[in-house]
Amino acid sequence: MKISVIGGGYVGLVTASCFAYLGHIVQIIEIDSKKADLINQGIPPIYEEKLEEILKQTAGKNLSAQSHYEGLGDADIIFICVGTPPQDDGSADLKYIISASKSIGAALKGSKKYHVITVKSTVPPGTTESIVMPIVLELLGNGSNCVGFCMNPEFLREGRAIDDFLHPDRVVIGGSSEEAVRVVQEAYEKLDAPVITTSLKAAEMIKYTSNAFLATKISFSNEIGNICKKIGINVYEVMKGVGLDHRINPYFLNAGLGFGGSCFPKDVMALIRLAEKNGEDPVLLRSVIDINERQPGRIVQILNERIGDIRGKNITVLGLAFKDNTDDVRDSRSIPVISELLEHGAVISAYDPMAFESMKKIFPGINYHTNAGDALIGADACLVLTEWPEFSKLNDEFNLMKSRVIIEGRKILSCSGIEGVCW
Ligand code: UGA
Repeated sequence: MKISVIGGGYVGLVTASCFAYLGHIVQIIEIDSKKADLINQGIPPIYEEKLEEILKQTAGKNLSAQSHYEGLGDADIIFICVGTPPQDDGSADLKYIISASKSIGAALKGSKKYHVITVKSTVPPGTTESIVMPIVLELLGNGSNCVGFCMNPEFLREGRAIDDFLHPDRVVIGGSSEEAVRVVQEAYEKLDAPVITTSLKAAEMIKYTSNAFLATKISFSNEIGNICKKIGINVYEVMKGVGLDHRINPYFLNAGLGFGGSCFPKDVMALIRLAEKNGEDPVLLRSVIDINERQPGRIVQILNERIGDIRGKNITVLGLAFKDNTDDVRDSRSIPVISELLEHGAVISAYDPMAFESMKKIFPGINYHTNAGDALIGADACLVLTEWPEFSKLNDEFNLMKSRVIIEGRKILSCSGIEGVCW
């Protein structure tokens, strides 16, 4: 099939590369021409495991990137993969969805081919039907019977996005017609996954609900973890026993500093705003955010209880990324922790296998190191803030500290003499 993908960010680039890997002819339309050039050279503009390998196999063959909408009229499916960032009040900003819809409508005018315009971006229920469809249809005028509309949410985890795309738990396709759904379903034909077909609005809601439920599991585990810590129980022992109940399952029950990243905080907030706008009082979702915002402060509080006044103390921070296997620090829980440590006058040394360049832009004044050992020399205490697998091997490095006070915000260390934020 011929597929066009509007937007070459995380979701667009992974989607486009994977569809090309599956044998489709794929065109990425990315406004940033530097990004488009890199993609054409087979160089990923972002880090994502296995992406480089796939780009090398497809770029210049059945995958190309450009900054203009020429050739869009050849596409069977046009995926909209633009950002929906939060506005000041937390609701989703749809300006990129609107401008992409306008550009698509203008580019398809006069086309006689049948195209399915498919929203992949995370958007509030009703967006495809009430915003994308009318904009495109108005611009198309008489040719409006040549298009169908779908909403096909993504469930890609950063750092594991390629595997998630190629081995999904399910593919959700909401459609304006059976024909539109059939075309999008065909694009996924080579994947071995159940396909759920829904209304456009339900597909949009499935995405928000999935992220909100996963975030709820995390905040729930953190609340139980905080109670366990107070009464001397290891929450990981508890959740192991709880997660084996098939109705609960063992995933996303890892207590710690809470969730960060570009999706969970933003999507839960957008869902809260959506509920409020519709006259609902989403008490559970608000608590999910509330617990999440409190977790970072707890590790600083424990540190304070262990070493007293933090002012002038050397604190080593291991892990800056919002989770392992990414250089992304967006909404990383390490940001509020470092901010609070700096407010209290700590001297910070930091190490992260990938994210130190990104974090330098936020905290240029702290000491960055290229390995954990160097960051630990002379430290009064160490806080572990990201679940990098390489941290599980650390042991002798902690002997370089002035005093061995080690507190984990993510359960990853395997050495003795450590405590966790809620275990
Ligand atoms: C998340 C979802 O997992 C994807 O399914 C979804 O497609 C994506 O958002 C999105 O909406 O685009 P992502 O944000 O990349 O993916 O990362 P996750 O692996 O879900 O982790 C999110 C945060 O939760 C991290 O900070 C992680 O450390 C934290 N977490 C995760 C926990 O604190 N405990 C857990 O048990 C699991």
